Amino acid sequence: MMVMMTIRRSLNFQVAAAAMAIFMALVSNLAYAADPNQLQDFCVAINYSAPAAVFVNGKFCKDPKVAKPEDFFFSGLLTPRNTSNPVGSTVTPVNVDQLPGLNTLGISLARIDFAPYGGLNPPHTHPRATEVLLVLEGALYVGFVTSNPDNRLFSKILRAGDVFVFPMGLIHFQLNVEKSRAVAIAALSSQNPGVITIANAVFGSNPRIDPRVLSRAFQLDKKVVDYLQTRFWYSN
Ligand SMILES: *[C@@H]1O[C@H](CO)[C@@H](O)[C@H](O)[C@H]1NC(C)=O
Ligand SMILES: *[C@@H]1O[C@H](CO)[C@@H](O)[C@H](O)[C@H]1NC(C)=O
Repeated sequence: MMVMMTIRRSLNFQVAAAAMAIFMALVSNLAYAADPNQLQDFCVAINYSAPAAVFVNGKFCKDPKVAKPEDFFFSGLLTPRNTSNPVGSTVTPVNVDQLPGLNTLGISLARIDFAPYGGLNPPHTHPRATEVLLVLEGALYVGFVTSNPDNRLFSKILRAGDVFVFPMGLIHFQLNVEKSRAVAIAALSSQNPGVITIANAVFGSNPRIDPRVLSRAFQLDKKVVDYLQTRFWYSN
């Protein structure tokens, strides 16, 4: 009996120690504001259909022996893109899906083209990345809003050569305020930053959010919510 109790106590101790170790690992992970560090020189992404119920946080690595320069290469980011769409902007991402060599490296790029007279990259957030924006051409009104309760707006007019940072997770936007086109390059602290466009997520979700939720949350008449939910929410 005594022996059993001792074993049980020692097991309990081991479970508690393991739980503590997992907790510490999670807590220390939260301190990193970017993708985790890689464990090898590189891990060129391949699309591998894993057996059912096997998932990895990221992508599988190609055998490094067969990696080639093209795996680390992307071309064409200087090509202007068509901005004839409802928001008047086009994002050209260069993340791990376009550039497999970015896998596990914790960074990516995007080019953003803005139509003259009000081309807009609408309010959105990147759940996994901080963004640094460099304006190459034109003039942009940009800003981000801090979290509750202050919801403070930090905004600025940027011109060619100007740089602005949007801290991870915060809602931000960019608007072309001149009659010429504008172009910017964004650098992001994730191989796969993700995008949540606020209007699309709120009014264009699939299936729709019960209008009572949005009517109350946004202090809108239900008819306005119904109207907003029938709109087409273009996403970049
Ligand atoms: C840009 O896209 C619009 C809408 O899809 C299309 O009508 C137009 O021809 C395109 N312009 C160019 C220069 O490709
Ligand atoms: C892998 O999958 C991603 C996401 O579905 C896709 O964008 C990418 O083009 C694919 N890459 C290859 C090499 O098939």
